[in-house]
Amino acid sequence: MALEKATGLDKKLQDRLLENGEIPKHIAIIMDGNGRWAKRRGLPRIAGHHEGVNSVRDIVEACGQLGVKFLTLYAFSTENWKRPKDEVSMLMRLLLKALRDERDRLHQNEVRLRAIGDIAALPQDVQDELLDAIEMMRHNNGLTLILALSYSGRWDLLNAMKRMHDEIKQGALLKEEISEQLVSSYLSTKEFPDPDLLIRTSGEYRISNFLLWQLAYSELVISEDFWPSFRRKHLYSAIADFQKRERRFGMVSEQIRKTPRAGSVYVERFLKSVAKL
Ligand code: IPE
Ligand code: IPE
Ligand code: MG
Repeated sequence: MALEKATGLDKKLQDRLLENGEIPKHIAIIMDGNGRWAKRRGLPRIAGHHEGVNSVRDIVEACGQLGVKFLTLYAFSTENWKRPKDEVSMLMRLLLKALRDERDRLHQNEVRLRAIGDIAALPQDVQDELLDAIEMMRHNNGLTLILALSYSGRWDLLNAMKRMHDEIKQGALLKEEISEQLVSSYLSTKEFPDPDLLIRTSGEYRISNFLLWQLAYSELVISEDFWPSFRRKHLYSAIADFQKRERRFGMVSEQIRKTPRAGSVYVERFLKSVAKL
């Protein structure tokens, strides 16, 4: 099993990103705008969700090729259960189909699949398919793809608080032991580093209850594209944007270990080449 390689201009652009700075280790994406993408074309909302699967395939493959280690995709939020019943059930059918259709390809590309969220709330057949696919890809060493399903940041934090409370009551945890690291270790993302880069599509400037604790110092990129039209060239632009930022973590510029940063001239030139892809 081997990762499919990029070719032509795509390969060139990937090489340039790799040469010009750091590739984010963990990218998180709020995949938004499926409904509006469909509406613009006079199609039902579900058509947008369908096309969104093609974007997922493209982004997952490009992240794997670039050596991104973790990719978290916000696919269904706790609040999304409040949508009309028809849409929720179509989304669950689509999730099942996508898992079935994509698992072999993901496996071939060495992807390790994981899920965060209230998985027990998903329909039984979706749960079964998901857990099977996770099991199948358990030993892969490529990109870790984390699907956030029936997930919300507050759900994650509430669970952590309840478990910590129980353990304190049983005497298994002391108040003095509670630190940032400890809280992180009670969250569903405990095995993954915090996201370096958060991308939200469809031009909305909000977090919508995504990884509230984990996004404390993530760089944010808002893309105006709706998720179904967001493809690897948009991802490359977001990474180039990330590469020109200085992450100060509350400190001052002089204190930061200088990782080479992409200059704006480079980014401008890069964006022009990306447009040709
Ligand atoms: C994102 O697209 C997919 C999910 C939240 C499941 P939307 O369905 O939110 O599409 P818009 O934002 O209404 O256009
Ligand atoms: C966020 O999108 C959730 C996912 C992408 C899964 P929404 O469309 O649900 O967010 P709001 O309602 O616009 O904030
Ligand atoms: Mg939306």
